[in-house]
Amino acid sequence: MDREQKYRRLDQASSKEVRELTEKVKRSPWRQTYHIQPVTGLLNDPNGFSYYNGEYHLFYQWFPLGTYHGLKYWYHTKSKDLAYWEDDGIGIQPGDRYDSHGAYSGSGIVKDGRLFLMYTGNTRDGSWERQPYQCMAVMNPEGEIDKWRLPVIDHVPHGYTDHFRDPKVWKDEDKYRCVIGAQRTDNTGAAVVYESNDLRSWDFQGEIRTTLQDFGYMWECPDYFELEGQGVLLICPQGLTPRGDSCRNIYQSGYLTGKPLNRNTLEFEHGEFRELDRGFDFYAPQTMQDAKGRRIMVGWMGLPEVEYPTDSQGWAHCLTIPRELIVLNGKLMQRPVAELQKLRRDPLEIECVLSHEKKVFEGFEGTVYEMVCDFENIHGEAVGIEFRSGRGQKTVLRYDRRDRKVILDRSRSGEAVGSGYGSTRACRANGDHVKFHLFVDTSSVEIFINDGEEVFTSRIFPDPDSRGISFFAENGSVGLKAVKWDLARAVNHSEGIE
Ligand code: FRU
Repeated sequence: MDREQKYRRLDQASSKEVRELTEKVKRSPWRQTYHIQPVTGLLNDPNGFSYYNGEYHLFYQWFPLGTYHGLKYWYHTKSKDLAYWEDDGIGIQPGDRYDSHGAYSGSGIVKDGRLFLMYTGNTRDGSWERQPYQCMAVMNPEGEIDKWRLPVIDHVPHGYTDHFRDPKVWKDEDKYRCVIGAQRTDNTGAAVVYESNDLRSWDFQGEIRTTLQDFGYMWECPDYFELEGQGVLLICPQGLTPRGDSCRNIYQSGYLTGKPLNRNTLEFEHGEFRELDRGFDFYAPQTMQDAKGRRIMVGWMGLPEVEYPTDSQGWAHCLTIPRELIVLNGKLMQRPVAELQKLRRDPLEIECVLSHEKKVFEGFEGTVYEMVCDFENIHGEAVGIEFRSGRGQKTVLRYDRRDRKVILDRSRSGEAVGSGYGSTRACRANGDHVKFHLFVDTSSVEIFINDGEEVFTSRIFPDPDSRGISFFAENGSVGLKAVKWDLARAVNHSEGIE
């Protein structure tokens, strides 16, 4: 695509173009109801996730004028309770000297009654050489955001390439620190740390010293925090090779846990790399600590370089629901935040024994709902559910007791999407009990296995009348308890682009 077209600002588009795009999006059958999605164009990483002035603020990477990765803005959304969200227009507008080719990902931190937003200014010169800058914008209590004229980090330190971005800031008792995603000059990925006393002047400290010295060619969107006395480093390594059921997406998103990062040596003693999600569409998550001390994570429900069926409908992608992180034996567990229970309507419950059969139940159907299914005393080979089913379509979630796996199969989910690494995803599971907790929206599903031990996050694109739900037990019996709620519309979108 021609570069001028790709890096157009919103104000360079005609009002006719914008109107037509907005109308096209409104006709899409796959618009979500309780997930944050763009009014038009493409959404990617969550940015600046924070709690400020009595509200949660969540920005995202946004290209308004098409469903490709063009000139990135920060779009602003906010919420009083993490359940109901409203659009708040453009947060950071790119196009100046230090963010001429995009206001790339970054994070937020509150200081002296204002919200500081640190982000990567992406620039290209006449020969298309990239130069990243780490920039700052500040939001006041009125919600006005001002960009600082000069970057706070104006060069890439020696030993790293121009792939140097996504500052995530935190506050230790004595200092501010940020972690930045980097590529070494030998084309391996790393995360580096800077320190500051005032958020204005930053000193390069060095690399976080992990045992992953040759682990992908770039680490995007790092995040560091401590939870229950443990250090946690989230990273998105690019360039890993799939191994069995692991790493079966174009890029990965995972974490290391260990002893707290040594602030002087940047030594991080950690365990193995684990993926955060086992599904098809999850990347670039960001966390924040809220006023109640919870660590909350939101991810991008999508991946770069994959085509999605809504691309031709003028919009692409959404964010995940907010999830609380808990660390258990070195493993991160994810739980949908409790506030989402406010969206529940019209509960329906069943309790029965299934034996060598597949069964439907009155009222168990829909396109937007939450459902918890407990399968207990599993005898036999496999149990599970089919959902969003109808006329040849279905999405299947099964616990295969013989193979000790939970498998999500979207091969017949509807319009095909990203089948590059196959159309099933799987993870290990054990025992004669399994719990599935599903959040289904018009074109997605997030599945929490056994109270968040594993999560499958996936887009699916079924027909609107594929509404069926059935439960099955293969070659044996199982005790089933299930409860389902409809979910209220929770995102108040602005009428058009602002
Ligand atoms: C991750 C990413 C970031 C970058 C942003 C640009 O998806 O590539 O590294 O800052 O997206 O939109």
